[in-house]
Amino acid sequence: MKIRKAVIPVAGLGTRFLPASKAIPKEMLTIVDRPTIQYIVEEVVASGIEEIIFITSEGKSAIENHFDYDFELDTILEKKQKSKLCEEMRHISNLIDIVSIRQKKPLGLGHAIWTARNVVGNEPFMVLLGDDLVLNDKPCSLQMLELFEKYGESIIAVQKVPKDQTFQYGIVEGESIEGRVYRVDRMMEKPAPGTTDSDLAIIGRYILQPDIFDLLGRTTPGHGGEIQLTDALLALSKKRTMYAYEFEGTRFDAGDKLGYLKAIVAFALRHPVLADDFRDYIKQVCLEC
Ligand code: G1P
Repeated sequence: MKIRKAVIPVAGLGTRFLPASKAIPKEMLTIVDRPTIQYIVEEVVASGIEEIIFITSEGKSAIENHFDYDFELDTILEKKQKSKLCEEMRHISNLIDIVSIRQKKPLGLGHAIWTARNVVGNEPFMVLLGDDLVLNDKPCSLQMLELFEKYGESIIAVQKVPKDQTFQYGIVEGESIEGRVYRVDRMMEKPAPGTTDSDLAIIGRYILQPDIFDLLGRTTPGHGGEIQLTDALLALSKKRTMYAYEFEGTRFDAGDKLGYLKAIVAFALRHPVLADDFRDYIKQVCLEC
């Protein structure tokens, strides 16, 4: 079955990024020349998905505006004969169909996904977390969608992390079944040190069967007093087979200040116009350090 819809939760307060995220959604912070969220949306588009469902909250309207058509800007750019820029702005507003739903209370990631239940309906769908950027020629989502064609069940993106960092992630325990694919046995959200031997951390890309909605509706608050997606995933993995996939690519936590800086450097070094000059600059800075 084709995956047609992607849910992108963007309701979070962005406390890790204060004060930058006080008046601006953290998803709108710029990486080189576009907001973080645009990279995520472009990944979705490049993977052939047809519709995006943003889960938003108060103060996040800049995200919707960014992907909207701006008549005034369009008219001004056209008048000034800035046709390339005009074309680029139109392209952003034509990328994909977008639906927005408000998460009315900050009850956690699991609750955010649950609010999309009526718009997603009874079909498998993708979830992408806005903080996780993955740099790779073949987008992480596309790698997962290809795997879904083979396995037809929920797939969670994972990467190995140092053992002393597992407490920062959802962790998957499972058995390797081929190459980068594992069958999920157990998962836990931000496990206390020493409570798991696994180093497979969940990264923000999921393909989920719609059964997750019913389970999310019954999930009680877990880690941090929030309704955790990972807890509902564990319940889903007991009902149907679930896979974890160690994707190819470099992941950046753009919701963290250091991760964000690393992302800027990595994306700038691949930028079609700026890369060469930026590389020279970085080399010079390194010599001076
Ligand atoms: C969320 C998920 C967690 C996952 C992480 C990846 O946590 O709950 O399972 O490992 O994203 O970025 P958060 O970073 O929102 O606390």
